[in-house]
Amino acid sequence: MRSCVPSLSQAPRALLLFVTALCLASCASLHRGVADGRIESLIARMTVEEKVGQLSLYAPAGEIVGNPQAAHQSAERELADIRAGRITGFFNGQGLEAKRRAQQAAVKESRLGIPLIFAADIIHGFRTVFPVPLGEAASWEPALAERTTRASAEEASSDGFRWTFAPMVDIARDARWGRGVEGAGEDVLLSSRFAAARVRGFQGPDLSRPDAMLATPKHFAGYGAAEGGLDYNTVDLSERTLREVYLPPFKAAIDAGALSIMSAFNEISGIPSNANRALLTGILRGEWGFKGFVVSDYTADEELIAHGFAADGREAAKRAFLAGTDVSMQSGLYMRWLPELVASGEVPMERLDDAVRRVLRVKEKLGLFDAPFRGLEDDPPGTTRYDAAAHQALAREAARRSIVLLKNQGDLLPLSKSGTRIALIGPFAGMSDLFGPWMVFRGQAAPVSIEDALRGALADPSLLSVSRGSNVETALPGGIDAAVAAARAADVVVLSIGESEKMSGEASSRSDIEVPQPQQDLANAIAATGKPVVVLLRNGRALALKQGVRDARAILVTWFLGSQTGPAIADILFGDASPSGRLPVSFPQTPGQVPYYYSHKRTGRPELADHPDLSYRARYIDATNEALYPFGFGLGYAPVRYEALEVGPAQLAWNGTLSVKARIANTGHRDVEETAQLYIGNRAASVTRPVRELKAFRKVNVPAGGATEVEFTLSRRDLEFIGQDLQPTVEPGQFDLWVGPSAVGGLHSTFVLAPG
Ligand code: BGC
Repeated sequence: MRSCVPSLSQAPRALLLFVTALCLASCASLHRGVADGRIESLIARMTVEEKVGQLSLYAPAGEIVGNPQAAHQSAERELADIRAGRITGFFNGQGLEAKRRAQQAAVKESRLGIPLIFAADIIHGFRTVFPVPLGEAASWEPALAERTTRASAEEASSDGFRWTFAPMVDIARDARWGRGVEGAGEDVLLSSRFAAARVRGFQGPDLSRPDAMLATPKHFAGYGAAEGGLDYNTVDLSERTLREVYLPPFKAAIDAGALSIMSAFNEISGIPSNANRALLTGILRGEWGFKGFVVSDYTADEELIAHGFAADGREAAKRAFLAGTDVSMQSGLYMRWLPELVASGEVPMERLDDAVRRVLRVKEKLGLFDAPFRGLEDDPPGTTRYDAAAHQALAREAARRSIVLLKNQGDLLPLSKSGTRIALIGPFAGMSDLFGPWMVFRGQAAPVSIEDALRGALADPSLLSVSRGSNVETALPGGIDAAVAAARAADVVVLSIGESEKMSGEASSRSDIEVPQPQQDLANAIAATGKPVVVLLRNGRALALKQGVRDARAILVTWFLGSQTGPAIADILFGDASPSGRLPVSFPQTPGQVPYYYSHKRTGRPELADHPDLSYRARYIDATNEALYPFGFGLGYAPVRYEALEVGPAQLAWNGTLSVKARIANTGHRDVEETAQLYIGNRAASVTRPVRELKAFRKVNVPAGGATEVEFTLSRRDLEFIGQDLQPTVEPGQFDLWVGPSAVGGLHSTFVLAPG
């Protein structure tokens, strides 16, 4: 568009700035006007079938992943459908050529020339693989997630994708649920911060930029609360818990600018999310003012039949669409039934137009109408649209910062790079299972294994021996004997054990959250050698650790770290970096404690900290309620001490602020990064409150032998909860406050919120 800023070279600077701002504002509104005009004129010309086409999204023919019941299409039929305007876009298609051909058919060969949109599950990287989202959340650095999602968007957009089905922002409090690996863990505040950061990263500063990707917070809503931690299972949640725990990360994502959202597979208290009008229209549009569109999860509209919520496809389409699901993914149900439902008057034309308008506006914002082939051209050989080396460096940094040190008895870590004989043992020492569960695309940069990285880092690589010891889920004949011999011949064992990529992610819930038995046997046998052991856990969830794993002298949680797994682990093992990750999920003592989360209610008979074995209390008879490693926990390579907590004033005025200060002293000989966490507890309210809630956190450097001050400010808003009337409320009264290194312990104080 031509600039409408006039030339005012002689005008005084202030006037010039004022006029420029005025003109830019009017340019923007002029552009909006032009865009709206284009969309309205299209809607006026579209047939009902073309309108429904804008609401119909598919995986490309021949590339359907997962759910086998989905309708298959042939390539010819697909092209004909594009030309007829019956398809809005595709997801998870490989390669540029096919996308270009499809876009050609849409823009040049269809009646109205509406561009397609190409979507993909870009969950933790595309060519460069970053840590799985749960692992990255262990960094407690939303800004890091913003950078990795930005890098992912740069890579995926240069393969023609402008829409990602991410971030997943579901709170996960049951470690059995496999999809916890895709989110940011159990906590409301941490998840909300990561949700917003990831949206900002994917979308970038301006959606019309060629490297911007439309973000899709998912799965709306409550999906992580599946009964028994079983994927797709029933969710039965109070509206209060839904609003207080499960919805805030979605709200944060939308406030950060997300313009699409994915409705979930699960029902909530009898109403499937995909047809839940109170959720999709009442809360999302009514209360939050969401301007984007809702896309169903994969065939979730058709699944209303299996839920027993719709008798047939016609009813399923009608219920989903009228509830607020604008776009149907993969089932083809809207195309099959909406035209007839509109003709019969059961679905009003205004609802159809509203959904189409939402989709077209987003396509417009992405610049697809003006430049439909942008990102789909082949680059000249030797050129790339992003800095691959910088992304690999970022992957290493992110991986390093995702690692959590749980234990380091006798300062076993860091290891020396010279003179120490290391036995690297376990099924994850080599190239397997480095990426994690969500890599649907080919062509990733080759990852670096732990074995290769350790060899590369050691002064004398011959001091490293490598043995597998066990398969992931089955015993390896002779494996334990060979591993024990290797351990005996070494000074230290690095034991790489845990879960394979297939053991978390979608449809990968586990009924048991321990290290699989054959690897546990391996760990126990290695422990019996008496050699010092460093356990490297590979995991997509919190694990319940026992015996030779739990009792190892050092334990590092390494999740799935992606392309730079090996170098990042080597950086930490050898002390080139100090571990700084903190758990985004509690590690329980036993599998039977799940769902386990720090922010639980007190009950009328809480377990007493100083008498944990007292009976007639809310506790198991065979375990205390403590976590093995609590939420927020993690060590560095130097001890820190929290001291000098100052909270003031003692009475927080209704419209005032509370200042909270503490000092963190590093009593060791190495610099560390510490994540100071502020929790509050509400002593008495008209609705019972959790024992603690995280309200703020700050990651700071604390130099060896030095100290760093942290300061937080709280206000009434931080004390809000969902009241008896299901509205946000704040009540005066007494509060506990802790500042510390995890959800357990910390410096304690109290304050009072004065009445308004
Ligand atoms: C998953 C979504 C995903 C979609 C498309 C579904 O099975 O639940 O998270 O975005 O497939 O791949």
